[in-house]
Amino acid sequence: MSPLNSTLNRRAFVRGVATASGAFLTGAALGSCDSRDPHQHPFPVEPDLAAGGGANSRVPLRIPPVVTPVGLALTAAPGPANVLPGKTTPALLYNGAFPGPTLAARKGDRVSINYTNGLSERSITHWHGMLVDPANDGHPRQVVGTGGTHAYDFTINQRAALNWYHPHPHMLTGGQVYRGLAGGFIVRDDTDTGLVGNALGLPTGNYEVPLIIRDASFDSSGGLQFSSKSSGFFGSTPLINGTYNPYLSVDKAIYRFRILNGCNARIWRLALNTGAPMYLIGTDGGLLDKSVALTEISIGSGERVDVLVDFRALGASQTVMLRCLDAGWDLLQFVGSGISALVGSIPTSLTTITPLGAAVRTRRFTFDGMTRLNGKTYDINAVEFTVPLGDVERWVFVTNGNGPHPVHVHGASFQVDKRIGGRGRVFDWERGWKDTVVVNDKETVEVLIQFVASTGLYVIHCHQLGHEDGGMMANFEVV
Ligand code: C2O
Ligand code: CU
Repeated sequence: MSPLNSTLNRRAFVRGVATASGAFLTGAALGSCDSRDPHQHPFPVEPDLAAGGGANSRVPLRIPPVVTPVGLALTAAPGPANVLPGKTTPALLYNGAFPGPTLAARKGDRVSINYTNGLSERSITHWHGMLVDPANDGHPRQVVGTGGTHAYDFTINQRAALNWYHPHPHMLTGGQVYRGLAGGFIVRDDTDTGLVGNALGLPTGNYEVPLIIRDASFDSSGGLQFSSKSSGFFGSTPLINGTYNPYLSVDKAIYRFRILNGCNARIWRLALNTGAPMYLIGTDGGLLDKSVALTEISIGSGERVDVLVDFRALGASQTVMLRCLDAGWDLLQFVGSGISALVGSIPTSLTTITPLGAAVRTRRFTFDGMTRLNGKTYDINAVEFTVPLGDVERWVFVTNGNGPHPVHVHGASFQVDKRIGGRGRVFDWERGWKDTVVVNDKETVEVLIQFVASTGLYVIHCHQLGHEDGGMMANFEVV
């Protein structure tokens, strides 16, 4: 019997509660279960589905299957997901998985993916964070109908990073992502994880764990509840890699967590319940120049962080909880296995980030209301502006309200230069190369951006998927 099971059984015995599957303990000492947020929940939540159920109901964290995106057939289709104990959730799945398989490739690899739309509505898949030419970007104009296909073929030429993939049909993205269509896309290179040796000594194998953290709401039969509205959908419970109420057994080792905010709208404020630091080593576009110890990290929809957590001193059966301080939710429980594994250390110096030089021009983008960008709702046929390939530009993001707006740009990474007003600073988790940055009410965020991957048609949009589907998006062309 593993240390975890013996701990749980002992707890169950003490409480006099049977451990039959599906038996939820209430009031377990794992932190508060407050699932309220400032936004209204349109749906009633069953008491036993409140986040952070009892310890005994925790199940092993699901790790999505890892596949190589070379000659890959990728189908988006309806299918069953097993999320809640004893219930089947009708979902939308990439290759039958909830969330989709993790695609893993190296810089220089030639990716070839044959996408098939098995949904009952139009769709297309976008590789969020991948710097590819427009034919491979999954722009909303490229949607295909039911049974339609799209062939992707590109060579990876960018830094190692955790990127991700999800649908991008105009007005339908929120619902399709919410019902399960999302997966990780890990790019590796020689700095990050060398083929020969591993200079930085970053954890790999079982010690490198992707965490797609999203929220969802369920009805009493296990069905996903959703309403498409511009104000954004907030679920009533968190799912980690599609797992409801998960734990992860961890050795006495340093772990690398590749974290994605896969929510439609919610911002995560991540922290460990022990107050121990997470060592931030990377953001959307890959490794930072230096690691930094942080006790909390905030990420909006579409943003990623790469963190190391030191469990070398965690004894058998001892636990640590990854929490969201804003939602007050327990997200993922780490349970010590007591097994001493790697020696390892937390590297300080990681890689080089070359700052973009002076901008040759400035563009201003206003995120207005819940559906407009620069005063207009999305016109799929228009080209709102052109950007010369190779020019460094300053893009200024402002809003008059209805934030937070996680602003996302296709086709290039950017560097966040400053935030004026509101929180008034650039946070550590916004350093390095980014493709998404959160703009709150009363804030102006300025980034430096340079398109180098390709000319052609891309979009800029808000990644609060209710805003995106409502039309807070614009086409532009790199020329
Ligand atoms: Cu994650 Cu344009 O999207
Ligand atoms: Cu927005």
